[in-house]
Amino acid sequence: MSAPVLALETSCDDTCAAVVGPGGEIRSNVVSSQGIHDRYGGVVPEIAARAHLELINPAIDDALRRAGITFDDLGAVAVTQGPGLVGALLVGVATAKAIVAARGLPLIAVDHLQAHVSANFAAPAPFEPPFVCLIASGGHSFLARVDERSGFEVLGATLDDAAGEAFDKGARMLGLPFPGGPHLERLAREGDPTAFTFPRGDGVPGLDCSFAGVKTSLLYAIRDLGPQETERRRADLAASYQEAIVDALAQRAARALEITGLGRLAIGGGVAANGPLRARIAALGAEVHIPPMELCTDNAAMVGLAALDTAAVDRSSALALDAYATGERDL
Ligand code: KG4
Ligand code: ZN
Repeated sequence: MSAPVLALETSCDDTCAAVVGPGGEIRSNVVSSQGIHDRYGGVVPEIAARAHLELINPAIDDALRRAGITFDDLGAVAVTQGPGLVGALLVGVATAKAIVAARGLPLIAVDHLQAHVSANFAAPAPFEPPFVCLIASGGHSFLARVDERSGFEVLGATLDDAAGEAFDKGARMLGLPFPGGPHLERLAREGDPTAFTFPRGDGVPGLDCSFAGVKTSLLYAIRDLGPQETERRRADLAASYQEAIVDALAQRAARALEITGLGRLAIGGGVAANGPLRARIAALGAEVHIPPMELCTDNAAMVGLAALDTAAVDRSSALALDAYATGERDL
């Protein structure tokens, strides 16, 4: 491909459009955060889909303008096909179909999880395979072995909540706003991470992990302490809770490095912003790559990067492309 790709990402609550050049240069990366779900304490699928409809065209215009190009300059349109909220995904898919139909362009369907992995391939300093990749966000948590740009092998995944979801639910129990990860991290700075011992999902074999236990343990601790003591020990609870999640992720990452014999580790997803997680990962002794934060959280540039290594949908079936809610396995 010698012309830039317009990429769209609407799998959850961020309306994203980006332009990526053929060499992996990110020429623009627009994220319209909907900011309307906070009051509900989580993403409301119907509201997300409706907001995508309103925001997608301005986001595309913005992405093209910031890249200094027009529709005439595009070589292809890429879009997240799944996994995600189907109603939300369909807005991106339908928009992409409309553009390729009107412009006679190829359509490239991208898997959202592949896009998180491909965030590592941005120019000018791509982190090349082979490496182990830990993706931890509000929607997914998994460890993958990446041997080539165009695929990955899942080594382990969460059996229940995603790590970010665990952060959000714990934060909610402690009375913090949504999304709770950053708030919980801030509160935890004033607390003692060893004050409470919360489970790390040690009973889960291999490289899978589980955050149901830590969540329930926090709930019981809060119940046992009662409202007054909980209030007094909020920071200790937050610090101990965060420690359990970070420890679980870092342990699995260390084990994956050991099993694969690969000395290289990339991390992505919104939880990669977490300071204690970064510190623990940095101490593992591997060569670590963390893409800039705007490429770790949901964005369309990563979809454009994945598109560079993905074959276009056959032209005859492009307009029949459907979105999918879950992958072969819920990660
Ligand atoms: O990748 P992302 O922006 O969206 C999803 O695909 O879900 O990830 C958002 C998740 C939320 O659960 C949020 O609480 C979490 O990432 N998060 C954090 C931090 N910043 C964001 N979790 C822990 N510590 C943080 N500093
Ligand atoms: Zn994501």
